[in-house]
Amino acid sequence: MQLILPTEYDLAHAEALLDAARKVRLNAYEPYSKYQVGAAILTVGGRIYVGCNVESADYDGTHAEEAALAAMVAGGDRTPVLLAVFGGLEGDPDPSNAPPCGKCRQKLMEFSSLSGHELGIFVTDPARGGLRVVLLSEILPWSFGPANIGVDLSKYRR
Ligand code: THU
Ligand code: ZN
Repeated sequence: MQLILPTEYDLAHAEALLDAARKVRLNAYEPYSKYQVGAAILTVGGRIYVGCNVESADYDGTHAEEAALAAMVAGGDRTPVLLAVFGGLEGDPDPSNAPPCGKCRQKLMEFSSLSGHELGIFVTDPARGGLRVVLLSEILPWSFGPANIGVDLSKYRR
């Protein structure tokens, strides 16, 4: 797998990506948890796709990362390289970086497998308190993917 982080290209986009995630969080629909999540995905082509959590009374809502992935695919893009996620309760003026849950890690890994690019994810560094980038493969090692079921994704690449 190819690592295309960190590059000057990505760092130039980093602030825009973090801002996009913070901003879209405010559109979250979360009457049940009251916890607002915003996610922003940067793709190889330099486009940013955003998503927020959308809850429903059946308690089976959409996570912000899933929504951002869906926006990316609907936009004709399948090559995520960098992800920023922020979460906080309604009215929190200073939301925290929020690591993707296990389900979202799996869905993100689908597109790393497809594109062949490592996905970098902003996380809070517990030692320094600031943000750093980890790779999805570091936080989802030994993952289950298309190769395990013998599926060839090559015709689904864009
Ligand atoms: N949530 C996300 O949007 N992404 C995650 O990966 C973790 C959880 C949402 C789901 C629910 O609407 C709220 O946060 C509380 O769990
Ligand atoms: Zn999730």
